[in-house]
Amino acid sequence: MLTTVTAIAIVATTTTNSLALDTDVRPLLKVPGGSASTSAGISGQRTVVKTVTRGVNLEGADFSDQDFEGISFQQSILRQADFSNCNLRNASFFDADVSGAKFTNADLRGANFELASLRKADLTGANLSGAYISSTTTFDGVILDDTDWTDTLLRKDTQKFLCRTAKGTNPVTGVDTRESLLCPID
Ligand SMILES: *[C@@H]1O[C@H](CO)[C@@H](O)[C@H](O)[C@H]1NC(C)=O
Ligand SMILES: *[C@@H]1O[C@H](CO)[C@@H](O)[C@H](O)[C@H]1NC(C)=O
Repeated sequence: MLTTVTAIAIVATTTTNSLALDTDVRPLLKVPGGSASTSAGISGQRTVVKTVTRGVNLEGADFSDQDFEGISFQQSILRQADFSNCNLRNASFFDADVSGAKFTNADLRGANFELASLRKADLTGANLSGAYISSTTTFDGVILDDTDWTDTLLRKDTQKFLCRTAKGTNPVTGVDTRESLLCPID
């Protein structure tokens, strides 16, 4: 059976804040569906599982303008990290702390934010269509101007919470943020 490695490799450089993804290994390490766990590798597999970001402190790291499609950042500490203009389709932030992180104009389609803290995160212009948001996702103080939530399943209370501050129009598609959240017309 074809197995997929569900981890991402992290290469430590000089300081903890300048950790970088190893671009040579990364293409091998995609996580389909963005929700897979990042446990150890399966023996007999050709690809060797490298270090996982689980529990790794990547606070303030600059990941902007990169392709992280399907990558798992689960259970990582990513406070104030910069993911602006990133492709994060189907990426997993399961149980990650992305409070204060910047996701400006990021492609977050299908991304998993179950148990994630998005406190004060900046989602301006991001596409969260089909993202996995649950009751365990926290959004206090989140900035969601110009975001696109088309076809994102949200619990009623989460939707209500987001509608309190939602505004703007996505510059790419002209999608009205409030309409994409199915907010009541005020
Ligand atoms: C994302 O995941 C969905 C559901 O597993 C899949 O249908 C889709 O092809 C994936 N998209 C990308 C861009 O990887
Ligand atoms: C967001 O994703 C949806 C689904 O793929 C797409 O229809 C929409 O055009 C995208 N919006 C933006 C702003 O790219």
